[in-house]
Amino acid sequence: TATAIGVSKLGAGIGARIDGVRLGGGLDTSTVAEVRSALLANKVIFFRGQHHLDDAGQLEFARLLGDPTLAHPTVRGRDHANVLPIDSDYGKANSWHTDVTFVDRVPAISVLRAIELPPYGGSTVWANTVRAYESLPEAVKALVDRLWAVHTNAYDYAANLDSTRIGGVDVKTEEYREEFVSKVYETEHPVVRVHPETGERALLLGHFVKRLVGLTSTESQAIFQLLQHRVTQLENTVRWQWAEGDVAIWDNRATQHYGVADYDDHHRRLNRVTISGDVPVSVDG
Ligand code: SIN
Repeated sequence: TATAIGVSKLGAGIGARIDGVRLGGGLDTSTVAEVRSALLANKVIFFRGQHHLDDAGQLEFARLLGDPTLAHPTVRGRDHANVLPIDSDYGKANSWHTDVTFVDRVPAISVLRAIELPPYGGSTVWANTVRAYESLPEAVKALVDRLWAVHTNAYDYAANLDSTRIGGVDVKTEEYREEFVSKVYETEHPVVRVHPETGERALLLGHFVKRLVGLTSTESQAIFQLLQHRVTQLENTVRWQWAEGDVAIWDNRATQHYGVADYDDHHRRLNRVTISGDVPVSVDG
């Protein structure tokens, strides 16, 4: 029997909390369809109290949304081949990005589950990249509609170093970075992608962008900053303060996110499963 899911919007621009759903591999198809449509409409959705889930349960649920990828193209899953620990011991995702944009087939959806949280801080912020595109003046849309960007995993890590560690990156973080770039990927994607399910146009940028095709890096930076500024406008974001047992699911084709590194040296760990996606399609098809 289908559960009636409760969808509470968290703001005008992005985000909703879903109540009345116990996530897991056995979820019925009509509830999965409702979850999926809430995801497409709200870009990121949050579930409280999913304490029953372990890695296997998270993965079984994720399979209902599509095909899970390996944990990461270069980083191996620690406990499970398809589950990536986002662990503060190895670094902090405190810069704006869309997950794994440096490969041809960018993951479609990410499912993140809180395992161990610091006593304060450590929230995550998501931004709606469809709304950011739609907010642009027509003349700027016309410009970016036909721009392409080079994405790489060998981006400038130094530029995003957690400020609390500047001057002394610890060994685990250093090893993780080495693993992250153990194979260098570089690919080009349209700056504006047409969402394969909704048909919406979304900006596809974030910290893996190296430069824009045909422009110098200085010129690329100027346009990149202009667009990122639209993405990260506070009205275009939602911030989630995690509790243990929370699960967030985001549409990786329509969002960027940022893990806020405001928890000193406390430990924080969340486990992520990503669902494979398509090669991004430009407005020209
Ligand atoms: C991620 O980048 O997938 C995780 C974000 C976070 O650490 O909050």
